[in-house]
Amino acid sequence: MTFARISGTGGYLPERVMTNHELETIVDTSDEWIRDRSGIRQRHIAADNETTSDMALSAAREALAAAKVEVADIDLIIVATTTPDRVFPSVACTVQRKLGIHDIPAFDIHAACSGFMFALDVANRFVKTGGASNVLVIGAEIYSRILDWSDRATCVLFGDGAGAVVLQAAEEAGIVSTHIHSNGKHEELLYVSGSVGDRGTERQSDAAFIKMRGNEIFRKAVAALGNIARETLAGNGITKSDLSWLVPHQANLRIISATAKKLCLPMERVVVTVDQHANTSSASIPLALDVAVRDGRIKRGDLLLFEAFGAGLTWGSALVKY
Ligand code: COA
Repeated sequence: MTFARISGTGGYLPERVMTNHELETIVDTSDEWIRDRSGIRQRHIAADNETTSDMALSAAREALAAAKVEVADIDLIIVATTTPDRVFPSVACTVQRKLGIHDIPAFDIHAACSGFMFALDVANRFVKTGGASNVLVIGAEIYSRILDWSDRATCVLFGDGAGAVVLQAAEEAGIVSTHIHSNGKHEELLYVSGSVGDRGTERQSDAAFIKMRGNEIFRKAVAALGNIARETLAGNGITKSDLSWLVPHQANLRIISATAKKLCLPMERVVVTVDQHANTSSASIPLALDVAVRDGRIKRGDLLLFEAFGAGLTWGSALVKY
C-alpha cells in the first residue's frame, strides 16, 4: 500500500513588518486591544510589486531543498489560495512556469482559511491512488490586498505569507487521515464583497473587501474545531494523549487555546505563530509547521494534528505522522 509523507517544509514571509502600534496610526485601535482579543502583535505585509505566486514560489523552493527533491521530479502542484494574482490562470500554473516545468497537472484550491487542509486532502488521495509521487502542496495568501484599511474589526487580524510542503509516496503513513467539511448556509458571516464582473465604481461598497461577523465566526470556529478534533481521534482509534503537537490554523489565540484545552494539550505542545504572522489564511498551517520543524520542536515520528476553520463555511483536519 502507498502512503503520502511530508518530506520537506518551506515558508516565506514578506520583509515588511507592520506592528500593532503602526495600526494605531491607521485606525481607532490599540496594541492592547489587538493583543488581548486576538494574541496578534505584528504581521508581514507584501511589497507593492510582490504577488501571491512570488511568495508561493519562495516557500516551494525552500520545501524542495529541505526534501532534497529536484524540481524536475515534481509531478503535481496544488496551491491553496483565495487571493490569486489574477482570476486565472491559477497560481499553481504560474508557480509551475516560474519553476520552469511543464505538462504536469497544477491547480488551485479555494477553501479560504481551510484551504491547506483541502489541498492536503486532495494531494493525499493522488499519492495513495498512484496518481502522483512528488507533490508540491502550497498555501499562499496576500490578504493585505483585500483588507479594508478603514475597518478596524478586520484589518488588524490578517497578514501575508506562504508555506509549502513536499508530499512524497512512502511505504508508511505519513498522512494518517484527512477530514474536510463545508456548510454554505452561513456564508454571510465571512465573505469578500463585490463580484466578478463588477466594473469598479466610485462606491466603496463595491470594492473587494473582507466582511466578517467576528463574534459569530468565533463561536462557530470553536465548536467546529472541537468536533473535528474528536472526529479525527475517534476515526483513528487514538486518544488525546497520543498527540505530540497541535499545529492549528492561526486566526486567534483564544480560538487556539480553546481547542488545545478540549484536547487537554498544554500550550507548550501547540505551535503558535499568530502573534508574529497574524492570520495568513491558507498559508498559516504550513508556515507554522515550517517554523516548528526548523526550530527543532517537531521531530520525525511525532504525531501532529492540523486543524483549520474558515469562510464558506469550511473546516478540516489532518492527522500526520511527521
Ligand atoms: N480595536 C479596538 N476595538 C475594536 C476593534 C479594534 N481593532 N475591533 C472591534 N472593536 C470593538 C468593537 O467595536 C466592539 O465595541 P462595542 O462593544 O463598543 O460595540 C468591541 O471591540 C468588541 O467587539 P467584538 O467583535 O465583540 O470583539 P471580540 O471579543 O469578539 O473579538 C475578534 C473580535 C474579531 C478578534 C474575534 O471575534 C475573532 O477573532 N473572531 C474570529 C475571527 C476569525 O477567526 N476570522 C477568520 C476565520 S478563519
